[in-house]
Amino acid sequence: MKNTIIGILLIVVISFAIYAAYQTNNIQVSGQMAQSGTMQQHMQPTPKKVERPFDMVQITYGKKAYQEYCAKCHGLNAEGAVDWRKQLPNGKFPSPPLNGTGHAWHHPMATLQNVIKNSRKGSEMPAWKDTLNDVEIDAIIAWFQSQWPDEIYTAWKKGGH
Ligand code: HEC
Repeated sequence: MKNTIIGILLIVVISFAIYAAYQTNNIQVSGQMAQSGTMQQHMQPTPKKVERPFDMVQITYGKKAYQEYCAKCHGLNAEGAVDWRKQLPNGKFPSPPLNGTGHAWHHPMATLQNVIKNSRKGSEMPAWKDTLNDVEIDAIIAWFQSQWPDEIYTAWKKGGH
């Protein structure tokens, strides 16, 4: 009799242990999934439907170079300086966004390349021709263009750029 009770107790304890282990495991897995879900949302740009002529290698390189050389003025996500439309007391303008919310998308490719290479006269924008080569500049442009919403990219393409 005593043995039977101990036996049953043992079975109950063991099944509870198995159940608890299973639950913890489950929670961990779903926790990981939730975490990677938010990470993905955070890191990846909104999926774009309009096809663009750049690949992930170019964009990844461009993003890295952008962060190194451009982010301190144009913002980590190319969102531009706060109040970028407001002229500064010295008559110059703060750094505009390059993520499609400014007017960079009004410029043809050649103008974008030219501003980056040679700066814009009378502004705080530096010339990069001695630091970055054409391939690097094109990769940076590809990265910030990958941030443009579909409507903006399509409008830029329609402009014949
Ligand atoms: C020291 C700050 C600074 C840095 C660093 C900088 N920029 Fe700029 N950039 C500016 C400013 C300020 C302007 C606006 C110039 C004007 O008044 O027209 C500008 C303008 C531009 C424009 C033209 C945007 C438009 O709407 O006409 C592009 C494109 C651009 N920058 C790209 C870059 C890239 C790419 C890098 C990195 C390689 C970079 N900038 C680094 C300050 C900076």
